[in-house]
Amino acid sequence: MKICLILAKSNFKGKWLIGDGKKMPWHVPEDLKRFSALTRGNAVIMGSGTWRSIGSKPLKGRANIVLSRSDAEFDGAKKAKSLEEALEICRSSGCEKVFVIGGEGPFNQALPMADEVFVTEIAGRFSGSVFAPNLSVSPQWRQSEKGEWKRSRIERRGYRFLKFVKRKKELNE
Ligand SMILES: NC(=O)c1ccc[n+]([C@@H]2O[C@H](COP(=O)([O-])OP(=O)(O)OC[C@H]3O[C@@H](n4cnc5c(N)ncnc54)[C@H](OP(=O)(O)O)[C@@H]3O)[C@@H](O)[C@H]2O)c1
Repeated sequence: MKICLILAKSNFKGKWLIGDGKKMPWHVPEDLKRFSALTRGNAVIMGSGTWRSIGSKPLKGRANIVLSRSDAEFDGAKKAKSLEEALEICRSSGCEKVFVIGGEGPFNQALPMADEVFVTEIAGRFSGSVFAPNLSVSPQWRQSEKGEWKRSRIERRGYRFLKFVKRKKELNE
């Protein structure tokens, strides 16, 4: 089973900013469209904060798994008390590909197990307190795709699509 991360980020003092704790700091529909195209038909794993940030509703056409240590239930999604449990749910139901879709903790925990990371880079300065690991400074990751900068139909916000793949193990040794 392939494990992927997918995120949108803006650069913030050398870090990858992804949110303010409640929502994404930008609205770029082209990013949401790509997110949907890539994740549809697959499983998505998210923290309970990300679940709330998307309106506490499952993403359609995807098996939704919410990470939570609480006793809460998540209507339309399965709950897992750990990332390992979430991945096991996916494996045992025959998933070929799973996307970890946030937030900060799940991205950090899943990264060592991940094969690919799909990134949308958003131009501009934003503030927030939720970050993803900066792969452009990580020796374990190689940028394999770098799209052209484009302008969103909303506020002509700049964005581009990037992809990172994990370097082969022998190169890390
Ligand atoms: N730009 C992007 O691509 C992107 C993507 C996703 C989210 N975001 C943004 O990020 C923010 C939300 O992220 P966040 O980091 O604050 O929250 P989060 O990671 O989505 O949720 C945190 C919660 O998830 C549960 N959790 C996390 N790891 C777990 C584990 N290993 N096992 C069991 N439960 C686990 C815990 O829930 P309980 O407290 O219920 O136990 C924890 O309190 C929002 O601003 C959202 O818009 C941005």
